[in-house]
Amino acid sequence: MKDVHDAPVVHSADATNVEDALEAGNYRQAVIDSESATAVAMRNTLLTPRFYTTDFDKLDAIDVSPVRKDWDKLIAQMKSDPNRGHFKKNEDWDHIDWDGMEPKLKAEFIDFLISSCTAEFSGCVLYKEMKRRGNNEDITTLFQLMARDEARHAGFINDALREAGIAVNLGFLTQAKKYTYFQPKFIYYATYLSEKIGYARYITIFRHLEAHPEHRFHPIFKWFKEWCNDEFSHGEAFALLMKTDPKLTSGINRYWIKFFLTAVYATMYVRDHQRPAFHEALGVDTDWYGQEVFRKTSEISKQVFPLTLDIDHPRWMPGLKALQRANADLAEAVEKKQFFRGLGARVRAAAAFIGLFTIPAVPNDPPVSTRLEPAY
Ligand SMILES: [Fe+2]
Ligand SMILES: [Fe+2]
Repeated sequence: MKDVHDAPVVHSADATNVEDALEAGNYRQAVIDSESATAVAMRNTLLTPRFYTTDFDKLDAIDVSPVRKDWDKLIAQMKSDPNRGHFKKNEDWDHIDWDGMEPKLKAEFIDFLISSCTAEFSGCVLYKEMKRRGNNEDITTLFQLMARDEARHAGFINDALREAGIAVNLGFLTQAKKYTYFQPKFIYYATYLSEKIGYARYITIFRHLEAHPEHRFHPIFKWFKEWCNDEFSHGEAFALLMKTDPKLTSGINRYWIKFFLTAVYATMYVRDHQRPAFHEALGVDTDWYGQEVFRKTSEISKQVFPLTLDIDHPRWMPGLKALQRANADLAEAVEKKQFFRGLGARVRAAAAFIGLFTIPAVPNDPPVSTRLEPAY
C-alpha cells in the first residue's frame, strides 16, 4: 500500500509507472463497479480476452545484445513518453447521450469497450508480472514501460464506461480471472500479433473516421492515433525479442507462427461479426475492415515472420464465413441447450479452421534490421 502522505496521481494518464497508474484516482473509482460488466470481463471462451502467465525465468534470461542498437533506440523512445497525460478526457471529449443511444448499438459498443478494457488490462497484468519477477534490466525496463502504457489504456476505457454507469472492477479481475499458461515463445507470437493487429485495428478505424467524421458516434475514437502508436512500439519490442534467437522463426516454429496468425485473424473476424450494429454505426463493412486489418498486419509482420497468410486465396473468405456461421450456431445451440446441434457446430468450426490453416502460406524473407515506424 502507498503511504497516505505520498502525493496521489490523480489520473492514470499522468502516471509515469504502472504502480502509480493502478493507484490513481480513476482506478480507485472503478471499484464502484457494475457486477454485470465485471462478469462479462470474467468470461473465458475461445473468443474472449484471456489473462496469461508464462515461464518468467526463461524470459528473464534473454540477451538482447544481438539487437542492442535497435533495442536502445526503442527503449529511449518509450522512456521519452510522448503520450504522458494523453489518455484522459479533455475539451475534445464530446458529451454522449447514452440513454438516447439505439439499444442494440449501445449493447454492442459497451461489449466492445469491456472486451477492449479486459484485453488492455490483461497486457498490463502480464507485463507488470514480468517486470516484478525479472532481474535482467533490459527486460524489466521494457516490461515496466509497456505495463505503464496498458494501465493507462485500460484506465481510459474504464473512464468511458463509467459515463455509461458501468465500470470493470480491474482489481477483482487480477485476482479472480483464470490465467492461461503459455511458454515464452507462444507469448512472443501471440503478444506480438495482438499488439500489431491492435495497431492495425485502431489506425484503420481512426483513418476511416478522419474521412467520415459523421460516423464518429463516440469521442474515444479521437484518441486512437496515439493509442495505436503505443501498441506499435510494444509490437516492435516483441519483434526485437524474437530477433535475438533465429530458432524462434524457423523450422517447426514456422507452423506455430502460421497457427497463431490463423487463430488471431479468425478470432478477430468472428468477434467483429458479433457486433453488426457497432460496425454499421461506424459506417464500416465488417468484411472490408477485416481484410484491411489483416493486410496491414501481414505487411508489418514481414519484419520478423518467415511467412504471411494468403488472405486473397479463394478459400480464405469462404473459410472465415463458414467459421463465423458455425460459431453463431454454436452460441445459439448452447443458449437453447441443444447438445447435438452444438456438437455439429463444433465439428464444422474445427473443419473450417483446419481449412483455413491448410491454405498454403506465402514465404517471406525478413530483413536483417527489423525496426519499423507506424506508416498507416
Ligand atoms: Fe494497449
Ligand atoms: Fe500494447
